[in-house]
Amino acid sequence: MVFHCLRENLPVKDEDFDKIYPEKISRLSQRHWTSVKVAKKAAMFLAPTADSKVMDVGSGAGKFCMVGSVTTPGHFFGVEQRQELVSVANDVVFKHNLDRVHFINANIMHMNLKGITALYLFNPFYENIDQEGCIDKSVPLSPVLYEQYEQHLFKQLDMMPPGTRLATYYMFSSQVPASYKLLEEHSFGMLRFYKKKKRTHHYMEKLINLKKGFCRKFYLELE
Ligand SMILES: C[S@@+](CC[C@H](N)C(=O)[O-])C[C@H]1O[C@@H](n2cnc3c(N)ncnc32)[C@H](O)[C@@H]1O
Repeated sequence: MVFHCLRENLPVKDEDFDKIYPEKISRLSQRHWTSVKVAKKAAMFLAPTADSKVMDVGSGAGKFCMVGSVTTPGHFFGVEQRQELVSVANDVVFKHNLDRVHFINANIMHMNLKGITALYLFNPFYENIDQEGCIDKSVPLSPVLYEQYEQHLFKQLDMMPPGTRLATYYMFSSQVPASYKLLEEHSFGMLRFYKKKKRTHHYMEKLINLKKGFCRKFYLELE
């Protein structure tokens, strides 16, 4: 029923959506899963066309990807390190016959982002530095891992092709490489939309550096 309403663009409350999950998983929703409203908004930006391929880094029980797949024309891939959450998400996909949505049980450290056109990040590594409200103890959590994951993802984001779309939720702009341009802010600045900038052409960069060098030399000679 909730998926039918979403397809028809009818309002769906989170408490109704979360009933698709076992009680133990829906109890985690308020803190750990994206709300339907935010998921719809972000997915619309990330997946404007049928060839959009969106990855949710740390997809949890799959709420963002599921909402995205029924409200946009794009394809959604959730990567999640907790096997139990991937099983729960796959059960929902099977039960409700959802298409264009896939869940992969893996750590982001081992994922290849080739072919991905957009990414969604709901501060996925945060529980490593605030373990009080963590999901469970089934995976190792530590500030050292936080640093490793953050650095890895930062580098991966920086290597994505120009035009890559990015939506972040509850994250600082310092967590996003400068190669991305901020386009929009929603939900009091908590939800941000970015696009990877065009690369400066190699020979243009050389020309700029050459010009800078020439100017420096010119000024030195004048002094
Ligand atoms: C805040 S929840 C977000 C869930 C989902 N993206 C959503 O918006 O509903 C973050 C998720 O990231 C997962 N996660 C954290 N570190 C990860 C890693 N290194 N690789 C894969 N998943 C990770 C956690 O297990 C958790 O399910």
